[in-house]
Amino acid sequence: MTSKIPAYDDSYNENGSDGIEEANDGYRFRMLNGLMMPPYVTPVRFEQARSAQTREADISFCSFPKSGSTWLSQILLLLVHGGTNPDEGTLRQHMIWMETSWPFPKSLDVVESMESPRLFKSHMPIEMAVGGGPGKQPAKYIYIARNPKDVCVSYFHFETEKAWAGNFKCSWDDWFERFISGQVQRGSWFDHVIGWQQTNHRNLLLLTYEGLLLDFDQEVIKIAKFLEIDLPENMLRQIDRNSSFETMKNSEFANMHEVEQLNTFYRKGKIGSWKDHFSESQNRRMDALIEERLADVSFDFIYEAG
Ligand code: PPS
Repeated sequence: MTSKIPAYDDSYNENGSDGIEEANDGYRFRMLNGLMMPPYVTPVRFEQARSAQTREADISFCSFPKSGSTWLSQILLLLVHGGTNPDEGTLRQHMIWMETSWPFPKSLDVVESMESPRLFKSHMPIEMAVGGGPGKQPAKYIYIARNPKDVCVSYFHFETEKAWAGNFKCSWDDWFERFISGQVQRGSWFDHVIGWQQTNHRNLLLLTYEGLLLDFDQEVIKIAKFLEIDLPENMLRQIDRNSSFETMKNSEFANMHEVEQLNTFYRKGKIGSWKDHFSESQNRRMDALIEERLADVSFDFIYEAG
């Protein structure tokens, strides 16, 4: 086990607290390109991420927060590593998260010295994508989306009373208002998902969290084809085992206990936990937004486990 990485504080940033704002309820963030971002997404890191030079064998994956990005990262690492995890390090250490100063910042020199396939993780909207996005880079891009009701709930648990959001205390009702008005770190879920979905490029694969949960094999086969990776049946079975919710939650490699305040990261891992929080009127308001904003979006979101 590597030594514990302390909870986020501003000293991780190149210029400390500069540019960080605090809302009346104590929510901390910084504005970049007109969008709320976590304090650890600094202007310098963002510029490095945006101007990153990728290689053809690299993979750049992205999502709005709480949409299954860590699960996807584990599947990708297993795919490029023959079905088992590398002997060294932890899952997060194998990812390149260029836009952040915490918890695992990597210098440009280190990123450049790494062998491909390199795995670039990001939560940026399309206009702020790593390397400028699909079509501007040789890397293959993957975007994973999850239904907004479950994202809203997962994000509520992730963001409240955490150092990266100012340890702010927030009721569920207040969080719901923040979320649907896009006043959360990374901005509007709707804009994020629509922006990526509309980027129709052969080097971009779109996935959903629900698709992975409901038809894991088919989705992983789709990913392997897109990445041109051979996937024999026994390797698919290994990937299934090694990326399951229970395995990731309980393995030192993936559980993220090496980072302070991330030990409750694996929460439910299912479809429909929004039902424990949404009131009827909140559900009606979210449904109206979904109908209005997602009419032309091809993602097949599922809101109820079968
Ligand atoms: S983050 O912090 O933004 O990168 O979060 P992200 O990884 O995108 O999403 C976290 C949610 O994904 C769930 N999760 C999983 N579900 C199913 N199977 C596996 N293996 C898995 N790994 C992570 C995690 O529990 C979060 O969802 P909730 O609903 O909070 O449980």
